[in-house]
Amino acid sequence: MSTHRLVTLLFVASLAGATFVLVRADEPHSEPRSQYVTATKCKRCHSSSKIGAQYKVWLESKHAHAFLSLASDSAKVYGARKGVEDPQQSPECLKCHVTGYGEPADHFVAARADSEGVSCESCHGAGSGYWKKSTMADIASGKAEGSKFGLLLPKETCANCHNEKSPAGTFVDWPADSAKIAHPIPKGYTPEPD
Ligand code: HEC
Ligand code: HEC
Ligand code: HEC
Ligand code: HEC
Repeated sequence: MSTHRLVTLLFVASLAGATFVLVRADEPHSEPRSQYVTATKCKRCHSSSKIGAQYKVWLESKHAHAFLSLASDSAKVYGARKGVEDPQQSPECLKCHVTGYGEPADHFVAARADSEGVSCESCHGAGSGYWKKSTMADIASGKAEGSKFGLLLPKETCANCHNEKSPAGTFVDWPADSAKIAHPIPKGYTPEPD
């Protein structure tokens, strides 16, 4: 008896169909707003090569240096054009070069961590609601919906900073530019038992 193997490839355009809803604190009846916990919280579990070393990939990316680069010579040139004396102190620059700029103090578990530059939570959303292991695992397995806990898979958020208002002049070409910052969980990854 001959065996016919039928290989069916399913391309599920789930991401394309997904919509992400940011819950804002100023809306009545909304959930308590998530707070920024900083990238050091993510580091604990996203450092091993087994899970994809997201922390390391980010740390070596330009996003992690976005605050430092506001002290560079070209930063001074851009600053001068805008009448900005110290880019590391100016809202004109900080709003796209650090995480959570302009948000009230109670959106941060501790204080705003400017030296982290554009960190995980700039793209994935403030982490206090989702960073705990059990929540993270439920989201990854599909048992819980990430957006309910403030976790975003962030295609939409790039343009918050990559837009014509950047003096460096930039646009994000999706997916080419997301490939430049890619940090996937490897296929076949299984979480460590507790
Ligand atoms: C206590 C450990 C832990 C911490 C802390 C943690 N994560 Fe995770 N995270 C995981 C694990 C484990 C997975 C993958 C689970 C799986 O695939 O089974 C994951 C998955 C993810 C995913 C993929 C979710 C999806 O829908 O596929 C994102 C995005 C993520 N984490 C971002 C973050 C960010 C940002 C932080 C810091 C604010 C963070 N994580 C902190 C353990 C953690
Ligand atoms: C609207 C968001 C936005 C604002 C506002 C902004 N930047 Fe940027 N900046 C970006 C983005 C996005 C990039 C990345 C450009 C790229 O590599 O495509 C960048 C890159 C840079 C770089 C590194 C690249 C280079 O050309 O040297 C410097 C330095 C810089 N910006 C300085 C500044 C200064 C100084 C200010 C304030 C006067 C400022 N930026 C305001 C978004 C912004
Ligand atoms: C500049 C934005 C940006 C930053 C900063 C960022 N990420 Fe991501 N992250 C993304 C994008 C984009 C994806 C892919 C989402 C998609 O496929 O739609 C992603 C995916 C992930 C995934 C899921 C991978 C998978 O295979 O399911 C994890 C886990 C993750 N990020 C963790 C982190 C952690 C931890 C940090 C900080 C150490 C971080 N990210 C920083 C944009 C970012
Ligand atoms: C909070 C603002 C912010 C967000 C959100 C953001 N970026 Fe950036 N991005 C920057 C800044 C600022 C730089 C330049 C950092 C520097 O050189 O100082 C940059 C640099 C980059 C670079 C250049 C890296 C290199 O190695 O040349 C790429 C690619 C990039 N971003 C892709 C993305 C993508 C894709 C997303 C969305 C998933 C995203 N960014 C979201 C602010 C942001």
